[in-house]
Amino acid sequence: MTVPPFLTGNQIRHKFLDFYAQRGHEILPSASLVPEDPTVLLTIAGMLQFKPIFLGQRRAEFLRATTAQKCIRTNDIENVGRTARHHTFFEMLGNFSFGDYFKEKAIAYAWELSTQVYGLPPERLVVSVFREDDEAFAIWRDQIGIPAHRIQRMDEADNFWVSGVTGPCGPCSEIYYDFHPELGDAHIDLEDDTRFIEFYNLVFMQYNRDADGHLTPLEKQNIDTGMGLERMAQILQRVPNNYETDLIFPIIAKAADLAHIDYSEASESAKVSLKVIGDHVRSVVQMIADGITAANVGRGYILRRLIRRWYATAGY
Ligand code: SER
Repeated sequence: MTVPPFLTGNQIRHKFLDFYAQRGHEILPSASLVPEDPTVLLTIAGMLQFKPIFLGQRRAEFLRATTAQKCIRTNDIENVGRTARHHTFFEMLGNFSFGDYFKEKAIAYAWELSTQVYGLPPERLVVSVFREDDEAFAIWRDQIGIPAHRIQRMDEADNFWVSGVTGPCGPCSEIYYDFHPELGDAHIDLEDDTRFIEFYNLVFMQYNRDADGHLTPLEKQNIDTGMGLERMAQILQRVPNNYETDLIFPIIAKAADLAHIDYSEASESAKVSLKVIGDHVRSVVQMIADGITAANVGRGYILRRLIRRWYATAGY
């Protein structure tokens, strides 16, 4: 079985941005973690800075853009350190089309990047589409050449993306990496996270969802994608979890050093604590760098909670 090449986190980030820049995308800076959007406390996705463009409220300066966006999500905070891939802070690599290309090209680009630039063997990739999205299914099968049984149809909970409850949204298609292809194709269960990791989400942004759940077509058909940098690093650095990648492990190693612990010999619970520190330190540093200060409410409370958890984890 072919093994993909080793790349550092920095190389993965640059290769993504360069690939899309070569295909007419403007490289834009990450937006602040403090969003302009009042519906969320923190920047939770790469698309957030483009939400007014998707909604037709602001004109796009470029028809195509690409970013490495710093994001924080705290809905899975209890899983941080306990699973291989839950974080509060992470970077989302994204390519965006504002009424320019749509499904066909987004899928072709994502496949080319994954297999040609990152060198992921096609036989290790499985994709999902929204249950009703026959068009995306057909593109993967007929234009990309994925065998039909490796294209999984998923329901709305998994494959229809909206940034929160209301706002721009659409069906999505995800690319998964198979850590255990030797288990064969007979029982592909994408929920099995010991075998599969979803690393690239392609959202076909074409509706606006209102508070009653009604979908109104957007003026234009857009593309919003997100690739988890830490997840791609786990794959390409061949480590058992996102924490042991070069993006996070130096923080863990330093914390272990300060605590006189040898990480490789540490108990599972000490490893969980070190991973929580590795994760929370990144969030806290990035939040403070974007001007957030500890407080009793709002995003300041999130910062305070993260600092408290990190101290508690470290045994203070
Ligand atoms: N908005 C989608 C996500 O966050 C794709 O970028 O997964």
